[in-house]
Amino acid sequence: MCGIIGYVGNGKASEIIYNGLRTLEYRGYDSVGVVVDTPSGIDLRKGKGMVEEVGDSLDFTSMGGSIGIGHTRWATHGVPCKENAHPHTDCTGKIAIVHNGVIENYQELRDELAGKGHKFSSETDSEIIAHLVEEGKKSGKETFQAFLSSLKMLKGSYAAALLVEGEKKLYVARKNSPLVVGLGKGENLAASDMTAMLRHTRDFVPLGEMEAAVLEPRGVAFYSMDGNELRKEPMHVDWSTEMAEKGGFPHFMLKEIHDQKHFLYESLAADVSRAHPLISNAKKIHITACGTSYHASLMFKCLSQKFLGKDCDATIASEYPFISNPDSNTLVIAISQSGETADTMRALEYARGKGAKILSLTNVAGSSITRISDEVVLLNSGPEVSVAATKTFTSQLAVLYRLVFPGKDLSAIPALLGKSLESEIEIKRISESLREKRDIFFLGRGLSVPIAMEGALKLKEISYLHAEAYPGGELKHGPLSLIEPGVPVIALAPNDETVYKMLGNIKEVRARGGFVVSFTNSREIAKESDIAVEIPGSDPLLAPFAMIAPLQLLAYYASVSKGINPDRPRNLAKSVTVE
Ligand code: AGP
Repeated sequence: MCGIIGYVGNGKASEIIYNGLRTLEYRGYDSVGVVVDTPSGIDLRKGKGMVEEVGDSLDFTSMGGSIGIGHTRWATHGVPCKENAHPHTDCTGKIAIVHNGVIENYQELRDELAGKGHKFSSETDSEIIAHLVEEGKKSGKETFQAFLSSLKMLKGSYAAALLVEGEKKLYVARKNSPLVVGLGKGENLAASDMTAMLRHTRDFVPLGEMEAAVLEPRGVAFYSMDGNELRKEPMHVDWSTEMAEKGGFPHFMLKEIHDQKHFLYESLAADVSRAHPLISNAKKIHITACGTSYHASLMFKCLSQKFLGKDCDATIASEYPFISNPDSNTLVIAISQSGETADTMRALEYARGKGAKILSLTNVAGSSITRISDEVVLLNSGPEVSVAATKTFTSQLAVLYRLVFPGKDLSAIPALLGKSLESEIEIKRISESLREKRDIFFLGRGLSVPIAMEGALKLKEISYLHAEAYPGGELKHGPLSLIEPGVPVIALAPNDETVYKMLGNIKEVRARGGFVVSFTNSREIAKESDIAVEIPGSDPLLAPFAMIAPLQLLAYYASVSKGINPDRPRNLAKSVTVE
């Protein structure tokens, strides 16, 4: 989950790495560090805290040198502290590494290394890589060979970058963790994702599984882990640097919520031509994803069962290998904005092993999930920086609608979502009243259930308020006992076939003193609610697009009113590359 970046060229490495780390911070933000090789030797600075906090206090940009690596951490082994922050060095302090991933056999290797006299300065699994390279070099290997043979000893996952004092080369490699090489002019970079390198290049080579590269200012050579040179074709992306900047908004999340009305045009135009036949010919459909993307999967399940008459199982990816039984007649659809989520990757590897076909929906071309898929539909949402997924969720919905309703005119969706943002001031007021609450319930029926679940996830994820979502009819089967005077209930009640059932649920809540905030275009629902936020549009099928942005705003403003940075919620990271 951590973010790593390396630079080699003629520019000021520390500044370039520091800027890149700011962009990568969404991947982890408990500690940060940079190492550069200068004419007077290695300069390594690291500390506990967020990127700017540490970078400014340790004055990263005063570090000289034109080659370096940096890391922003999401702790797995060892608490967040200076010692556990990356980069880590070997016993001589001349070999420095950064690592993203989990080394499963690290204890065994560490004990072995300790037996040979190595001294460790952190509790991390990662530090052993520097010591293994040191051992390899001691035994006479060239740095690259020592790097490859060290990595071959590791069980688990890694995206790693290595720098050795006095060598103007960066060594990088990956296994089950993302790493992309950026090809510049007279300079080359490698990072956990493309956005961190956009100021320098739009030409990228995502490293494949078990591949490595050696970066020098004038060029990059790619290798298999056996050391055989590989030919790689770069891909060009048209993302701009502004897309990965806040553009005048106080937070990325708010910008990305507002951006939806623009990017939805792009997502509706996504190329789904090769995905359609896969769906129509599929005997069985399994759809799998995590978090927000799982909620998009639930929407597909509802739509495909009801409108395509296709049986479709939607399963949380981390559970998929334990409870699903795909075969060669199964189409497995994976949804993942990052294309790197480890749980989703493992589910797909399992499905692939059983002979299933794989279709994936992702926002990141060249990501791991695209490489295991038979067909890919790109979401075209532009880079999403905030940890909370917003615009990628509505892009996923837009693409799924295209897959289910090939003949339907969906062009009203972007403007519909744009109109729903007009409730922003009212939503801000409502969110402030939620601040002191303990539990908040979200109710919906039919297509509103996945939206209710997403509204609840957004709220808990960034405002730390406890929120749960239920189909309205489930209330009386248990959760109703939690409703007492003043408990807020967010009711998603568009004027569709569910409206009278929802009316009944709202009455049940109010009869127990619950405080109902409805999102509706039905007068009757509005009359029965304590607060009714009007949703635009009248096509029941498109109501999810009229409700989702106000719910995202609700979570955003609840977070801000509690003094939380919604872009960096505690304990979370955007790209979840550990299982
Ligand atoms: C969304 O707000 C969350 N941060 C999280 O649930 C996310 O959707 C999940 O980790 C899946 O990510 P993916 O779409 O990149 O696979």
